[in-house]
Amino acid sequence: MLDKNEDLGMNNFFDNKSFFLRGTDHMGWGIKNRMSRIFNPKTGRTVMLAFDHGSVLDSIAGFDRLDLSVHPLIHIADSIMCTRGIVRTIVPPSTRKPVCLRFSAASTVLSELNNDVIFDIEDAIRLNASALGVTVALGDKYEAKTIQNLVHAADSGYKYDIPVIGITSISKQDSDAAYYAMVARVCAENGANIVKTYYTEKNFSKIINKCPVSVIVAGGKKMPEQKFLEFCYRAIDEGAAGIDVGRNVFQSLSPVAMIKAVSSIVHDNLLPEDAFQLYRELSNLS
Ligand code: 5RP
Repeated sequence: MLDKNEDLGMNNFFDNKSFFLRGTDHMGWGIKNRMSRIFNPKTGRTVMLAFDHGSVLDSIAGFDRLDLSVHPLIHIADSIMCTRGIVRTIVPPSTRKPVCLRFSAASTVLSELNNDVIFDIEDAIRLNASALGVTVALGDKYEAKTIQNLVHAADSGYKYDIPVIGITSISKQDSDAAYYAMVARVCAENGANIVKTYYTEKNFSKIINKCPVSVIVAGGKKMPEQKFLEFCYRAIDEGAAGIDVGRNVFQSLSPVAMIKAVSSIVHDNLLPEDAFQLYRELSNLS
């Protein structure tokens, strides 16, 4: 028998507020849980350490000996972006960091970019992937193929509640906000839960506003540390939910200090000059 005075918490329901990331309220539990591993629920943002370059580009500085360069950085990043070959050979299986798997295998800079195929979802499950990254190339000869890849990835992703990242192709690097906004929107409309794109000096907010899911920004070519921290600050301040960074960390004089400085902007809202000071202190330059 229930004691009438016993407080069973009736009418005191856990307040399951709307989920903290854009466009996810009506997604399944598994997608939300995986996205909570990629994005810090306290800030809604992520520092994604990218080392997937070797699948498309020729050898680039800092990426030849990933076995040496990646390990000191993984535990500082919130998430990692890499191919299945690098997961299996370089990333320690004991890592607790979410793997955002490059799920489309690209044709390389030696031929035509974007003639891509995608992997089998079962392999992503075996690797315990937290997200599937697929390249989309609007306006390219292989546009239809890359959209098909995204659609297939999203179909598999929804089946197993693994979120999909729509990745803006590098073939249109010099494009403007209107183009990137269109790619972001097309990715989201076709099922992407996250979009990875490029920051634009002008009208970046157009990309953010037109896209109903979280947008993260690729770091791009190496710049001086202070300049890159200013770049991160502007992208976050103007609405990006994270930075996907490779070269500006791996090619820095002090990669550990650099990723910590990027993180201080993304999660602690440090001003770029304060983040640069932090970089200098951590790399013993002050
Ligand atoms: C490589 C990529 C990278 O993941 C992305 O560009 C981020 O790396 P970087 O900061 O070096 O630009 O898509 O093809």
